[in-house]
Parts: sequence; structure tokens; C-alpha cells
Amino acid sequence: MTVEGTYRAAIGHDRSHVIHPFSQLATTEIAPDDMYVGGAGCYLEDARGNRLFDANAGLWCVNVGYGRDEVVEAIREQAARMSYGQIFARNANLPSAELSARIARLAPEGLNRVFLGTGGSIANETAIRTVHHYFRLQGRDSKRLVLSVDQSYHGSTYLAASLTFSGNYHETFHVVDVVHELRSPYPYRAPDGLEGDLFVDYLVDDLERLITRLGADDIACFILEPVLGAGGVIVPPEGYHARMVEVCRANDIFVIADEVVTGFGRLGYFLAAEPVFGMQADLITLGKGISSGYQPLSATVVSDRIHDVISASEDPDRIYAHGFTHSGHPVCCAAGLANIDIIQREDLCGHVTRVGARFQARLRDLSGSSLVGEVRGLGFMAAVELVANRDTKALFPPEVGISGRVEAYCREEGLIVRPLRQHIILSPPLIMTAEEGDWVVGVIERSLDRVESDLRSGGLL
Ligand SMILES: Cc1ncc(COP(=O)(O)O)c(C=O)c1O
Repeated sequence: MTVEGTYRAAIGHDRSHVIHPFSQLATTEIAPDDMYVGGAGCYLEDARGNRLFDANAGLWCVNVGYGRDEVVEAIREQAARMSYGQIFARNANLPSAELSARIARLAPEGLNRVFLGTGGSIANETAIRTVHHYFRLQGRDSKRLVLSVDQSYHGSTYLAASLTFSGNYHETFHVVDVVHELRSPYPYRAPDGLEGDLFVDYLVDDLERLITRLGADDIACFILEPVLGAGGVIVPPEGYHARMVEVCRANDIFVIADEVVTGFGRLGYFLAAEPVFGMQADLITLGKGISSGYQPLSATVVSDRIHDVISASEDPDRIYAHGFTHSGHPVCCAAGLANIDIIQREDLCGHVTRVGARFQARLRDLSGSSLVGEVRGLGFMAAVELVANRDTKALFPPEVGISGRVEAYCREEGLIVRPLRQHIILSPPLIMTAEEGDWVVGVIERSLDRVESDLRSGGLL
């Protein structure tokens, strides 16, 4: 039987029963090369037996690569010893205690308390609910609004989706009305002529105006990804993070750094907000690379200042009424610990800093293509923004499916990239070598050339 035949039944079940997240349900129909059946290092294997380099690390998450024995063994060992252990109220388990201490050690000074969850959306929900609880306990119930920037992505639960201003989130589903939108720190698409400090001034002014309009007494917090991932790997202009934090501080607005993507080595640091961008946050949310996707795991790191207040109340009606069946799940935490061990032992942060510099430089060479508006990114996180006209920055109409065309050609050469609207997104496993990075760029270069020539011959360019 062919490899493909072995998986035929599963493909049929998928077509009949699986609701695929973020998909066009009317047209999504899984084929054998959409069904992955194995993974090792940076590579996935599909049901046809093709070996493909996964330059997305799944969904920005398989930081240490697929199939690492050490993580697999940690999961097995913990599941055998104690497969489940809840941590509500006065219940505890060893891996969740150890992991919380490890995360606190990696976090900036003054952030020592950790709430464990099972995904980035949950981590962000937790951050907002914790801030709300803080202000309630202080009798400042009106402080409940949340500020978030255009092009951000914070997840897919109701509240996390409401924090999100990218794609058609706000049109597709109803959203929670506590969230207000700020302008995006998107230098490539900044309003006419605004660059550098002038653009930062404009963005800070937007924040100050919104605070004036809503009233600082009604605003609880501001949430920001240090680099906006799903929005198109948008790297805000220099000085932006620190200036925004300064205004928030002056108005008693807490700052949440959503490091679900940027954490755990992707930018060359365990946590990047403060060392890379000078963004001093009151809460930091983590997910994805925290377990390299081996188990569902997330963390919300909370400042001592906030924790001092939420832990001071002895009122039985004001307990910290927040938590999940799988909070602090021992098997997930064991995976997280083994994952951190690998990142530290193999110095993957140092590796990302070194190889990332070359990878980013090589990627910039793609700017020569007439389809490329901008190449941007840092470390092992990058986007190639595709445009129909480099002077006007006009986009191709959606029906051209520009990023999908590039993706399809990359795949023919054994490379998985992520097409996201007008972007090709790259977030490879942190173990990618310099040579593999060069190969990835070469494949994209050839794919861009092929798409360009298709578009020309089709009269679309
Ligand atoms: C920055 C950021 N925050 C939060 C999330 C949500 O994480 P999850 O899908 O694990 O809930 C994502 C997911 O892509 C993300 O990119």
C-alpha cells in the first residue's frame, strides 16, 4: 500500500468531520499533501511521503524543532508518574511549581507571579481579568477599558478576539465592547511622509487623544505585541514602545506585553519586550514557544505590584475567581521545563542572534523583486509584503491570491511558508542553520520570479 493509501481513510474523515480553524469552510478540502504524518527537526512529512522544511515552525511555535527525544521523554515520564494534577485553591504539583519559578527567573525584575494556562488567548484573557480584578479590589470599578493597536493579533476567544484588530475579526463575530483601537505602529504604511520620531510622535499623540476622550479613570490597560506577528511582522519604529509605556504609566494604565510569539528565543531573548525594545510591562503573556508546541501551555506573568493587591483581600466574595481545569497541567509543565532546558543548553538565543542577522540580511535581497514592497523582521521572525505597485504600495486584488501563489511554488521545492493576506510569513524553528536559512531565501526568490512571470503572461502585471 502506498503511504498515501494508508492515510486515505483519515483524509476522508477529515473532509467529513473536521472544522478547520481560520478556513474558508466552503472550499477547504484536505488533500494528501495537506495531511502531515511525521516531524523531525525542521522538517515535516506529508501523507504522500514528501519531506518539507517548515519555515513557520507550525504556527510560530515549534521553537526547538519536531521530535526532540528529551521533551518526548519528559512528557512520557510525567504522564506515567502523575498524568493530571489540578492547582485550584490549595492543590499543587511539582512541574507547575518548578516551571513558574523558572519563568519568574527569566522575567524582568519585579515580575515574579505566574498564572499557567493552555494557550495564548487564555494568557491574554487572564491578563485582562487580572487587571480588572486589581482595580475592582481597589474600588476603582470604572477602570475597565482596554487599548489595543490596529493590526494586532491576540487570540480567538471572545475577549482575545476583541483585542485583535487584524483580518476580519471585528466584522465576523460580535466582540466585547471594552476594547478601543489605536493606530498601528506600521512604518511601511505610515501616513504620508511620517518617518522615525515624527511617526512615533503621531502614534503617541493618538494614544494621548484616546486617553483624553475615554478618560484615564476608565482605562485599565494597554496590550501590545512587541513585534506585531500576524499583522505582518510589523516592527514598530524605534522609541515607540518606551514612549507608549511612559504615557500609560503617567495615566495609571497597566501595560501588557503579548510575547506569545516573541518569547522563548524567537528574537534572540527568552523575553524580548524589555531587552530589545525597552518596553517595561506590568504583565507579560507567553505561549507557543514556551513548550515548542509539544503540549498546550501558556503563562501570564504578573508584577509584584499587582499581585500584592490581588493577594491582600481576605474577603471570601473577592477571591481570584479565575482558572481552568488544565491550569498548571503537570504533563504540559514537564514539556515546558524540558523545552527551556534545550533552549538554554543549546544556547538557541545566541544562535538566533547570530544566524538571524544573516537570515534577515539575505531576506532583504528579495527587495529586488518587483512584487516585493518591503521585507522586514528581526531574529527568526520575518515577513515579505507583496504589492502590485511598489511606488503606490497598492495591493493586488484578493482574487489574485498573491501570497498563495508564492506559497504554492515554495512548496513544490519542499518549503512550507505561510501566506497571510499580502504577506509571506516566516518563523522557522530556532534550530535552523545559516545554510538552511540561505536555502529558504533562495526558494522564495525563485518562487517570486515564477509568480512574476505568471502574472506578466496573464496580463495581471
Ligand atoms: C501574539 C499572539 N498572541 C496570542 C495568540 C493566541 O494564541 P493561541 O492561539 O495559543 O490562543 C497568538 C496566536 O497566534 C499570537 O500570535
